[in-house]
Amino acid sequence: MPTLFDDIEKVLITKDELQTRIAALAAEMNAIYDDDDLPMLVCILKGAFMFLADLTRHLDFRHEIDFMEISSYGSGTTSGSVRILLDLASDITGRNIIIVEDIVDTGNTLTYILKNFTARGPASVRVATLLSKPSRREVDVAVDFVGFEVPDEFVMGYGLDYAQQYRTITRPNCCTTCTARPTAAIITCSSRRAWPRNTSNTSARCNRIRR
Ligand code: PRP
Repeated sequence: MPTLFDDIEKVLITKDELQTRIAALAAEMNAIYDDDDLPMLVCILKGAFMFLADLTRHLDFRHEIDFMEISSYGSGTTSGSVRILLDLASDITGRNIIIVEDIVDTGNTLTYILKNFTARGPASVRVATLLSKPSRREVDVAVDFVGFEVPDEFVMGYGLDYAQQYRTITRPNCCTTCTARPTAAIITCSSRRAWPRNTSNTSARCNRIRR
């Protein structure tokens, strides 16, 4: 009987590599912002929740947090129309915004968010993404803080899903310094095996798999 872990092809970024790089990104932000800026970090759900949690624990300046959920449906491997499923609770007029994404792939989602935010009159907007796939870009979009540039492989774990599953999956004992199961790593899946088990609305979900 195959287990969840059989769906992992390889560990692309280890837990330690993730944490080291996230601390470095936070250091970059700490050099730019101070308490007076009072930035608002906007976590783009769902994928960025782990990145936001780890990133913010390294920030030295006062900041606030808000959440936005975006959905982008397309066919095959491209993003199509983008829409807001959950909007910000806060007014961002005059605020310094840091958008926190898990991955920038085609760039269509981020382009939509930036256009949407610009219309709300923020003082500044910067973008942090844990992962970027430059080879997949369809629109040129500026990203200020990039954790890792990754190849065009399907990645999951550390918040990133495959058909809403696998967001927390890691390979047991992939970290030799850790006897417990690592709680966070970016992995690639064995595409033949990984499949949306026990998932409702399967056809809709499969239609938008592109990472
Ligand atoms: C992912 C990711 C980005 C977007 C990037 O979200 O979180 O928002 O795709 O893709 P793009 O650059 O091609 O537009 P997804 O729609 O998978 O939702 P999720 O975060 O809830 O998994």
